[in-house]
Amino acid sequence: MKKILHVISTLNGQNSYSLALGNKILDQLKNEYPESEVVERNLVVEDFPHISEDKWQAIITPEENRTDAQKEAIAIQEEVIQELFDADILVIGAPLYNFGIPSQLKAWIGHLAKTGTTFKYTEEGPQGLVTGKKVYIAMSSGGVYSENPAYDFVSDYLIKVFGFLGMTDVELIRVEGIAIPELRDGALDKAEKQLAESLA
Ligand SMILES: Cc1cc2nc3c(=O)[nH]c(=O)nc-3n(C[C@H](O)[C@H](O)[C@H](O)COP(=O)(O)O)c2cc1C
Repeated sequence: MKKILHVISTLNGQNSYSLALGNKILDQLKNEYPESEVVERNLVVEDFPHISEDKWQAIITPEENRTDAQKEAIAIQEEVIQELFDADILVIGAPLYNFGIPSQLKAWIGHLAKTGTTFKYTEEGPQGLVTGKKVYIAMSSGGVYSENPAYDFVSDYLIKVFGFLGMTDVELIRVEGIAIPELRDGALDKAEKQLAESLA
């Protein structure tokens, strides 16, 4: 039995390519691990919060000194960190918007990066504390960046962030060329082929 965390961050609802690709990855995983349990976190639908000044002050206040309001402010951070540790496999939907990741996905990552909990600094440098996970990134983009990532600040960023937190087993699958009519129709099939190769 595997616990799978599916993170969605598209603005395109059910018409989303990153969601379609994420669902294809989930289908493969459910085939491989029929008893698996999927937890879905749709960051756009739930309007996932940014780290406000109040929240940051709550985070840096020692636990025993936190007010009730501060405890409430950071409850969501504890929740998403727990979800991350509970998962064996992560499927991250990552649309490319304005050269980068959606701000909601950035906010989620901001809540996960907690010194002493998900990473720590040692004399040898930073050490990720979230280990033993497999991460699939379902990346979608209007342009084609697999061969030249000139305007793709998603793939390298996400691979580095997950790696920093200890998740070094990362597979990034691309559904790309969505803004190019001649490529759009075959884009998902191409991504599925990349997925099949990565699972082979
Ligand atoms: C607000 C917005 C900004 C976008 N910016 C870019 C961009 O900078 N580069 C790019 O290649 N495609 C860009 N696109 C196209 C998306 O990457 C493409 O539509 C992709 O399918 C989005 O993923 P989704 O279908 O899961 O939402 C943008 C789309 C939107 C809606």
